Amino acid sequence: MKINILTLFPEFFNSFKEHSIVKRAVEREQVEINIVNIRDFAEGRHRQCDDIPFGGGAGMVMKPEPLMKAIDSVGGLVLYTSPQGKKFNQEMAVEMSSLEEITIIAGHYEGIDERVVESKVDMEVSLGDFVLTGGELPAMVISDAIIRLVPGVIKKESYENDSFFNGLLDYPHYTRPAEYEGLKVPDVLMSGHHKNIDEWRLKQSLKRTYLRRRELLKNREFTKLEKKLMEEIKREVENDI
Ligand SMILES: C[S@@+](CC[C@H](N)C(=O)[O-])C[C@H]1O[C@@H](n2cnc3c(N)ncnc32)[C@H](O)[C@@H]1O
Repeated sequence: MKINILTLFPEFFNSFKEHSIVKRAVEREQVEINIVNIRDFAEGRHRQCDDIPFGGGAGMVMKPEPLMKAIDSVGGLVLYTSPQGKKFNQEMAVEMSSLEEITIIAGHYEGIDERVVESKVDMEVSLGDFVLTGGELPAMVISDAIIRLVPGVIKKESYENDSFFNGLLDYPHYTRPAEYEGLKVPDVLMSGHHKNIDEWRLKQSLKRTYLRRRELLKNREFTKLEKKLMEEIKREVENDI
């Protein structure tokens, strides 16, 4: 998969490409991250990429010509990171991870000229209801969420149990030592009994989702086992266990 990121600040991405799972995915050629400097497409001595807003007001606006030329130099689904966009989630990450190429535009200042959005952008994507200085961090966040889902990048079992993947929050994790300053790991996890461990984990996932994000359970088609566990959970919650 190829991810093009269009930015005025390419150096933001140096560390992103050079660490951990993203680095490994790039080295194994599972993913290509192509950082495009929008300024390379600007003309004139100063390669100006922003200008004052028509109609007046504070701040600068990213000019259409260099940005449109930068978009035309790459391909795939074009996303614009914007607080006004559709809120990014795991479902979108899963869908995008199966695409061959995507392009993410990192905005800056007051944003980009609206004509670019109207003529070149397929989807505006937001990280949430807050305003960041620029689209570089959102571009990294979106890329990271997608890259770990690209086939072969991490083990399927790793992301299949992650929060949201199957509509539930993840279960709690523990590692050695089995006891630290009196804090113990649940006995079942050390029992070696895989069926019991799986059931315990499923129950923890259901319970966390029920307590923290109940809306995720609204349209769930519960299995027989899940129904039984939910009854136990509701009883426990009622009795404050
Ligand atoms: C200061 S913001 C511009 C905000 C814009 N004036 C507005 O209120 O909608 C500059 C850039 O940061 C990025 N950005 C800011 N907040 C974001 C968010 N919540 N999600 C995604 N991108 C965001 C966008 O690329 C945006 O063009």
